[in-house]
Amino acid sequence: MMEWMELERQCTECQKCALAETRTNVVFGVGSKEAKVLFIGEGPGEQEDLKGEPFVGRAGKLLDDMLELIHLNRKNIYIANMVKCRPPKNRDPRPEEQEACLPWLRNQAALLQPEIIVCLGRIAAMRIINPNFKITKEHGIWFEKNGCQVMALYHPAALLRDPNRRPETFEDLKKLEKRIQLLCPETFSLGD
Ligand code: URA
Repeated sequence: MMEWMELERQCTECQKCALAETRTNVVFGVGSKEAKVLFIGEGPGEQEDLKGEPFVGRAGKLLDDMLELIHLNRKNIYIANMVKCRPPKNRDPRPEEQEACLPWLRNQAALLQPEIIVCLGRIAAMRIINPNFKITKEHGIWFEKNGCQVMALYHPAALLRDPNRRPETFEDLKKLEKRIQLLCPETFSLGD
């Protein structure tokens, strides 16, 4: 296991899969290194690739609004992706790309030791919770993984495409807020 500085240094030089050839920037992750709540998205899109930061495009704006609804912000959680480089044309990351990238995320999780993991969308949920995960049926349900509480939310990009899913997501967010209050209430003031 590497410490943060070395991990980020090596990660930004990664050549372990073909996405390295087409990326502009590696999108390592943002947030508090003391965070007890880890959000995991799918992979960088165009804006993220250009900026080197996760969730800075339209879906990112919605994610910020979702966080605000439950009194969270980017400074009191940590946000990362299943793959750290943009898949061309925003296609789903391939299994071999996800496997190649997973050790970076595992090391981040080992450093953070989160109480709660939130999977944003089915790609993260299928890898973290269960390969047969059905986002339409299983969003908002708590799972336990190595002593960590894990739930999936609809991906903010899916909520942009289908606003009908927003009320359910609001309920899921409220569940998340309650569990943070129970397990790691210090989250709400981290980074102030
Ligand atoms: N979608 C993701 O899953 N991650 C990002 O960082 C941006 C958009």
